[in-house]
Amino acid sequence: MSVIRTAVTGVGSFLPEQVITNAELSKTVDTSDEWIVERTGIRQRHKARDDQPTSDLAVEAAKRALEDAGKSVSDVDLIIVATTTPDKTFPATAALVQQKLGAPVGIAFDVQAVCSGFVYALSVADGFVARGMAKCALVIGAEEMTRLMDWNDRTTCVLFGDGAGAFVLEPREGQGTKDDQGILGFALRCDGSKTDLLYVDGGPATTGTVGHLRMIGNQVFRHAVVNISEAIVSAAKAADITIPEIDWFVPHQANQRIIRGVGERLGLDENRVVSTVDQHANTSAASIPLAMDVAIKDGRIKRGDLVVLEAMGGGLTWGACAFRL
Ligand code: UT7
Repeated sequence: MSVIRTAVTGVGSFLPEQVITNAELSKTVDTSDEWIVERTGIRQRHKARDDQPTSDLAVEAAKRALEDAGKSVSDVDLIIVATTTPDKTFPATAALVQQKLGAPVGIAFDVQAVCSGFVYALSVADGFVARGMAKCALVIGAEEMTRLMDWNDRTTCVLFGDGAGAFVLEPREGQGTKDDQGILGFALRCDGSKTDLLYVDGGPATTGTVGHLRMIGNQVFRHAVVNISEAIVSAAKAADITIPEIDWFVPHQANQRIIRGVGERLGLDENRVVSTVDQHANTSAASIPLAMDVAIKDGRIKRGDLVVLEAMGGGLTWGACAFRL
């Protein structure tokens, strides 16, 4: 049976120039390179300039993804930005990206599911493409998490970084089987009873300030491995694939111990797991497309490969997506 699949036809990413190493952080807060590397795998993070808003990172990633797909800005009819760090409370960062790209009038809005935002945004875009409402969609994860840091809180400020990554999505005809190019299955979850484990202590309708990120890290950690694994199994089932069939696992980059734990629980070959947490730290909704871009550009992930993405973050939200590149 012929079906319309949402295919990933281009991938791009962008990191701001400034790099902050663990050693540099340990000069201003009571931490050490040893502690950060051992507990998280993080060695450095990128930080945007003061005059470089989230939309600027998103635009650069989008341009690179469009070039990779062989599409021009005038083709773009849907822009979804997954972000927790919008330039402004409104308009949506996606509208600012449309303006800065010079893209034509179309659909543009943001998705807010924190670190799971990119997987949530992919599922939203998949709906638009499947209904014929978008022929060339940009899904962008763009974050400046360093803006939300309390730089005196060593339990959080060492963990996060800035960056952006983008996918171009286009419709492709498939046969309705797991051999089709494109998105094959999702699992999305939110457990709102756990909002207190990971949140920002500000907002326009509470304090009137931006606020700082707060996290009970070890409780989030305990939640992570089990629930992420369940979501991957569910997404694989929805895609009609088995775990051993997965060519590449591209997880959200929060902590190397979580990435390893999920891999071990599912019996994934560690050589098939993409990890960039050492270089990028946790860039929230940007981490998956950033990691994808690295692994495509260095030749590991190739067209035709079966890829599974997963993420977990504030909400708590989590989810997974299986697709054939
Ligand atoms: O992307 C959104 C989802 N977020 C995550 O997935 C993050 C999940 N959580 C984690 O990755 C880990 O829980 C952390 C990396 C945040 C923390 O690692 P942990 O092994 O769970 O450590 P812990 O929070 O239990 O803290 C252990 C000790 C504490 O000291 P005491 O109370 O045992 O004396 C902390 O105060 O480590 C201390 N500590 C630090 N020490 C040096 C916490 N942060 C630091 C630090 N440097 N930066």
